[in-house]
Amino acid sequence: MNIDGKAWRTIWLEPDGRSVGVIDQTRLPHQFTTRTLRSCEEAADAIRTMVVRGAPLIGVTGAYGLMLALQADPSDGSLAAAFEQLNATRPTAINLRWALERVRTKVQPLPPAERAEAAKAEAAAIADEDVAMCEAIGEHGLTIFQQLAAARPAQRQQEPFQVLTHCNAGWLATVDWGTALAPIYKAHRAGLNIHVWVDETRPRNQGASLTAYELGREGVPHTVIVDNAGGHLMQHGQVDAVIVGTDRTTRSGDVCNKIGTYLKALAAHDNGVPFYVALPASTIDWTIADGVAEIPIEARAAAEVTHIQGRIASGPAAGEIANVQLTPDGSDGFNPAFDVTPARLVTALITERGVAAASEQGLQGLYGND
Ligand code: MRU
Repeated sequence: MNIDGKAWRTIWLEPDGRSVGVIDQTRLPHQFTTRTLRSCEEAADAIRTMVVRGAPLIGVTGAYGLMLALQADPSDGSLAAAFEQLNATRPTAINLRWALERVRTKVQPLPPAERAEAAKAEAAAIADEDVAMCEAIGEHGLTIFQQLAAARPAQRQQEPFQVLTHCNAGWLATVDWGTALAPIYKAHRAGLNIHVWVDETRPRNQGASLTAYELGREGVPHTVIVDNAGGHLMQHGQVDAVIVGTDRTTRSGDVCNKIGTYLKALAAHDNGVPFYVALPASTIDWTIADGVAEIPIEARAAAEVTHIQGRIASGPAAGEIANVQLTPDGSDGFNPAFDVTPARLVTALITERGVAAASEQGLQGLYGND
């Protein structure tokens, strides 16, 4: 996507052909800075500290992390240790393990001297495929949005088509385009009068900081709301559709996504608002069926709940990015990073292969022969 007229991806191979560039998402929306990752440790650290985040981007960063490890030491032991180190960084997004396994399968049979180059090629292929998959998700989602917008009563046709999204499932969460935001970008570019309600997404505020930043750069009309406002808006007919991404979808269509997604799905269900989940094939975990029972939910630091980051608005330190404490000294925080929305609350899954029911049959219909 474009930032100040320049096309960016979220991750790239630097001109030296060895190190990896990323956008530092911990500084957005107030500072646009990049970082160079030169070792597996730095790649693992970037994932853990959320310099990069979002399930597809975590996967691609992991793939490049294996490349960095093999550049330093292409032995079997190095490969195994790097795999474990990277895989342990964030437990919920299945894209990470998927991408690591894909690179390992490619390089393991090779002589050590050839492994780093092969890992580089595979990581680049995963990145390119992610872009293509996300763009295809955008096209399929666009069709749904156009149909929903056209089906609204005649007196509402002049109003914007209202979409609510949670967290950031935009281009910053992928390599380009995004998953849930891809249909929004496609719709906006196709001339649909669209407006996005952006959940702030406590505790790390990926919606308020990243989704709002993305939509603003692309010129998509949007409004940031507190996480608790969605149900109220739905009750008052101000949401035509909800669309979110996912970090892991089970073969039966249960969807794990940023904490708070489940509550949005419940409110959508109660108000007859369609609830869509956008995902590439790399986010499906075919090994499990029951998302609530089987998906590991990352517990992050309590400090993300008890504190908040932002830009100082006034005074001598105005403009600086700062971290402030919200809670009294001594109050504990608890920070589960994801929740699971059962398949029965999902209207449909939007994938790169088309739209499917959130069910084993639905997913098999799209991917069954692979
Ligand atoms: O903790 P994060 O910011 O990595 O969580 C991201 C999300 O929950 C996204 O919605 C999900 O990864 C889908 S991204 C295309």
